[in-house]
Amino acid sequence: MQNMDKNWRPTQGKNQMGWMSLEIPPVQLKEYTLEEVKEHKKNNWMVLDNKVYDLTKYLEYHPGGIKIIEKFCGKDGTKAFNRNHRWVNFQYLLKKCQIGTVSIKSLQKKKESNFLMEN
Ligand code: HEM
Repeated sequence: MQNMDKNWRPTQGKNQMGWMSLEIPPVQLKEYTLEEVKEHKKNNWMVLDNKVYDLTKYLEYHPGGIKIIEKFCGKDGTKAFNRNHRWVNFQYLLKKCQIGTVSIKSLQKKKESNFLMEN
């Protein structure tokens, strides 16, 4: 697979079972704009299917390595995610990292700018 970090191996315990048993205190879900997600690139925020996740704790558990997933922090990673592993149930795996959703206004703005670009 392209761009794969072939030398990456999970450190001991940083495997799928380790991730499943890791407890993360729940937070109140909020609405964020795409701009806000971008501002939190360093905090490893990512949009997947209009949900906002803080992937800080997940990064080192990612079976594909940290480098490749980090590239999409601050962005909408949905397309990249689906290109690599459409079969992975991220809604289930990342439930405890969800911090909010993308605000409808922000999505409309994106739709409008895409529309302008495509026409
Ligand atoms: C959005 C950017 C992402 C990219 C570009 C990406 C890329 C990759 C790649 C290349 C692999 C293959 C590793 C291998 O075959 O050894 C992989 C595996 C995997 N990734 Fe990601 N990933 C991304 C995000 C995520 C996220 C957010 C999750 C959280 C659910 C995730 C969960 C997984 C899982 C569970 C596997 C193993 C899949 C399997 O073996 O069938 N990935 N990823």
